[in-house]
Amino acid sequence: MRKALAAIQSAAAPDELEALRVRLLGRKGEVTAQLKALGSLPAAERPAAGKAVNRIKKELSAAIAERRRALNECLLDADLSAGGIDASLPGRGVLPGSEHPISRTLRRVRTILAGAGFSARSGPEIEDEFHNFTALNMPGNHPARDMHDTFYLPSGMLLRTHTSPVQIRSMLAEGAPLKIISSGRVFRRDSDQTHTPVFHQVEGLAVDEGVSLANLKSLLHEFAERFFERKVQVRFRASYFPFTEPSAEMDVRWEDGGWLEILGCGMVHPQVLRSGGLDPERYTGYAFGMGVERMAMLRYGVRDIRRLFGNDVRFLGQFAP
Ligand code: PHE
Repeated sequence: MRKALAAIQSAAAPDELEALRVRLLGRKGEVTAQLKALGSLPAAERPAAGKAVNRIKKELSAAIAERRRALNECLLDADLSAGGIDASLPGRGVLPGSEHPISRTLRRVRTILAGAGFSARSGPEIEDEFHNFTALNMPGNHPARDMHDTFYLPSGMLLRTHTSPVQIRSMLAEGAPLKIISSGRVFRRDSDQTHTPVFHQVEGLAVDEGVSLANLKSLLHEFAERFFERKVQVRFRASYFPFTEPSAEMDVRWEDGGWLEILGCGMVHPQVLRSGGLDPERYTGYAFGMGVERMAMLRYGVRDIRRLFGNDVRFLGQFAP
């Protein structure tokens, strides 16, 4: 009995303990054998002997249960200290994301223009020659097509080189009056410190009876002041786009006294109104287009356009709210 108790106490693992239990208390175990042997004792000795064996059985069972509990506790301790969970450690903290400067700029531009009554439209990135060029007063052999360094697809379709095809799609789909903006990716075979083959534009178009160049100038001046959040001086410099007449580029006076071009604009060319299914004798319109990367670089003082595409979190983190 004492030997059995000592063995139980020193069992080092649950299966060792289980083997002991089977050897002592199992169907063919030592204690069970003693119980069976009671039958062969003289009747007078049986009650006392039976009591003694049952006491031993109870004691051994209790000792085994106690040892099992202790072993399990040890195992749990070992588990925890082997690198499971330390509930006393501080939490990891949340790294908040930040809006990408392009998205942020786009959102600002859209919000400002929505306030001036423009609503958003969209068009496909894979365009046909008709919407990207022909309907915008650039027929097949027009030299301005070369300026756009177009990506052509084997199918004869192309990656749109500007957002202006949405002007045509909107006029054809909705007629006039119309006051819309459209933003998205555009594609040109061009790449250096200020150009990437993919960039973003926002296009604006207003068509109605009596829309004038004065309307265009006041809208864009107001836009520039809201976008840069200060009073700004702007100038409209005569320029050329096939789809507007007259055409201009708007410059903003910078802190160093220089002028910076921020967008192209003009009165919608009569030929373009016609392509859009509208009568140029009745309707006039203005249109403008700007590069989102350029606006973001000016607004946030980014020198190299590649920063906007590098996805370096040290750069992006600076735009956290
Ligand atoms: N589509 C022109 C460009 O990509 C910009 C523009 C839009 C100019 C609308 C005038 C009117 O350069």
